Amino acid sequence: ATITPLKTAFASYFPIGTAFSNDELYGESANLMKKHFASVTPGNVLKWDATEPTEGNFNFTGSDAAVQFAVDNGMKVRGHTLVWHSQTPNWVFYDSNNQLVTKEVLYARMKAHIDAVVGRYKGKIYAWDVANEVIDESQSDGMRRSPWYQIAGEEYLEKAFIYAHAADPNAKLFINDYNTHIPAKAQFLHDLVQRLKAKGVPIDGIGEQTHINLDYPSLSQIEDSIVKFSDLGVTQEITELDMSIYGNSSQSYTSLSTAQATQQATRYAALFEIFKRHKDQITNVTFWGQDDAHSWLRTFPVTRLDWPLLFDDNLQSKPAYWSLVNAL
Ligand code: XIL
Repeated sequence: ATITPLKTAFASYFPIGTAFSNDELYGESANLMKKHFASVTPGNVLKWDATEPTEGNFNFTGSDAAVQFAVDNGMKVRGHTLVWHSQTPNWVFYDSNNQLVTKEVLYARMKAHIDAVVGRYKGKIYAWDVANEVIDESQSDGMRRSPWYQIAGEEYLEKAFIYAHAADPNAKLFINDYNTHIPAKAQFLHDLVQRLKAKGVPIDGIGEQTHINLDYPSLSQIEDSIVKFSDLGVTQEITELDMSIYGNSSQSYTSLSTAQATQQATRYAALFEIFKRHKDQITNVTFWGQDDAHSWLRTFPVTRLDWPLLFDDNLQSKPAYWSLVNAL
């Protein structure tokens, strides 16, 4: 049977994307990516620890290869990510005595990093996750107590977006987070974006990671957050979609059962019905990987098998894939 490319199936709604690692730039993985996806997100090679492992010493070997692959194949690129508490070297935040640096030092480092990375891919990366995972709904003000926040307070976000905008005025700038279906977290994120916009900070969109499970969260919670964000005058992108089979970290299966595969397919189809309903808000839907063997969930939160994506370990279409193309 002829397999409908995902990007064709959803062409009238939004570009469909995938994250990838650079070992997928060859062979059958590359062919699958070229066939199905209109956009790509390098999974790790644009993160700070990859691009600037020590101060001022940039390494663009991996990111250049990743971006060039996309350019060569006419794919859009999402840049992930600039300002984050994870996969960021300690030298960014701490001096040689292990003390947090001053705000001035932090901003100088942030600006140098953003100038170099965003500037290098100006015109090639259409969207940047400028800030990643800054909300912590367990804090009374909703702000994660990352080193960024500890040093500079909320102002570091203003600087990050301003520097990114200066480095590539045409790039769409996002604030990206996980568990955006949780009402309290969504509200903090909503209100933060509102405050930033009120100050004139150049922020274009909210990224909803959307790492979900087979039976959590409810789809209505996901839709509620999309609706909640829709009064902000920003776009939304689903940036890291996957659907773990597990409900908690102590479960471990040796194979994906037919029942689980069917349940996953049904849920993916229902989820995409929501995204399609809100196509005027949603400008991209990206899976966090093509095939199950490449999923980050094979090592996080514990090392175990998982089957969260549309293609199996042998790059064959799963029921989840068929439910998406047949539902249209
Ligand atoms: C993950 C990568 O997929 C892994 O390879 C890496 O070991 C850890 O990071 N939220 C994010 C992504 O914003 O950057 C994370 O990517 C997955 C969770």
